[in-house]
Amino acid sequence: MESVIVAIDGPSGTGKSSTSKAVAAKLGLSYLDTGAQYRAITWWMISNGVDVHDADAVANAAAKPVIVSGTDPARPTITVDGADAAGPIRTEEVTSKVSAVSAVPEVRSLITELQRSIARSAEHGIVVEGRDIGTTVLPDADLKIFLTASPEARAARRSGELKGVDVQATKEALVKRDAADSSRKTSPLAKADDAVEVDTTELTLDQVIECVVTLVDEKR
Ligand code: C5P
Repeated sequence: MESVIVAIDGPSGTGKSSTSKAVAAKLGLSYLDTGAQYRAITWWMISNGVDVHDADAVANAAAKPVIVSGTDPARPTITVDGADAAGPIRTEEVTSKVSAVSAVPEVRSLITELQRSIARSAEHGIVVEGRDIGTTVLPDADLKIFLTASPEARAARRSGELKGVDVQATKEALVKRDAADSSRKTSPLAKADDAVEVDTTELTLDQVIECVVTLVDEKR
């Protein structure tokens, strides 16, 4: 199989992670969750008493944590300074603070370099999911997908994942995080000009996966 690089971007709750993992597993590719890396650095900042709203403090500390991502789509892992971070990076506190940390240019340039080196070393190709993969991290990707869905559908999916969470509150938090991610100066959430947009509002996960697999096959 020829090596192929697939960039999958879009706001939260569009099915990026489930789609990316399934497509990578089906096609024998590696998988990288770049949101997990921004969450990991945010978790480190919180754990080390760095004020995430102080951009200078975040910039000064950005190079300190060692973040390692495992790229097996069947078992993606993430560690910070050797500690398993998979659970702690999904807390509400990290989710509410990650946009502030990910907006800091020093954080972005360090994490972007890390992402590029992981993509370069993926022997059979890789599916990389995030917000700025097609525009900034891997502008030469073989295929760029931009997933969208209505805010209602996205909130319903997220509330389904996190049991007992209010759909309206989830929707408000999602819309706020997307607005912050889309309006930051350095590599905001955006669709690349040459990305294929897929609206997942009315599609099942299996339909989205099939659609992306077909698009990858057309590129090989
Ligand atoms: O995908 P996920 O919701 O886990 O991403 C968490 C956050 O990480 C996003 O809200 C965004 O602030 C940041 N992020 C980013 N660039 C990426 C991926 C994620 O800024 N490529």
